[in-house]
Amino acid sequence: MKAGGVRGEFRTFGALVGGLVMIMMGIALAVFSGGGAGRFETNGERIYYTGSNQDGKRIVYRGGAASGMMMARGLACASCHGSNAQGGQHQMYMLVMDAPDIRWSTLAAEGEDEHAGTGGTYDLVAFRRAVIDGRHAGGEPLNDLMPRWSLSDTDLADLATFLQSLGQ
Ligand code: HEC
Repeated sequence: MKAGGVRGEFRTFGALVGGLVMIMMGIALAVFSGGGAGRFETNGERIYYTGSNQDGKRIVYRGGAASGMMMARGLACASCHGSNAQGGQHQMYMLVMDAPDIRWSTLAAEGEDEHAGTGGTYDLVAFRRAVIDGRHAGGEPLNDLMPRWSLSDTDLADLATFLQSLGQ
């Protein structure tokens, strides 16, 4: 009976921690998606930060970091490429994510950084190939950490416009 009691406590503790995590995620989500459409000036900005478009539709994706984990369900570009799209390293779940700078000024610049050596610079067609098909501008496949996104042409163009609006 005693051992059962201990197990019971463990279960309770687990449930408590689980509950706390859920609450924290709820708050994070509320902060991210809160305020409705008015919080974001453009559709592209909204997609970048929330992973949903102006119609409130979540952008479906496959793969991506920790895709097997429940917590990976709500990914948006900002989760990995950062709040200013400048990328960088951060701890994500159990791995260190090193996502590239995807400001348009960087993507379109030839040969200075991560996508140097891939034999291409980004235009809208290459951007589409990267985000939807998971290929570098030069055609090589992107790492699996980068999800493949099912974006409509409009959403994709809006996203590109948002990245173009970011400073150097
Ligand atoms: C789970 C993390 C994650 C999310 C979410 C994510 N990315 Fe990425 N992305 C990456 C990583 C990591 C790479 C680098 C892959 C490589 O170099 O092989 C990458 C690469 C890219 C590249 C290619 C850059 C280059 O240097 O060639 C583009 C463009 C890009 N991401 C756009 C986006 C957009 C737009 C979104 C949102 C719709 C997004 N990413 C969401 C992790 C992520």
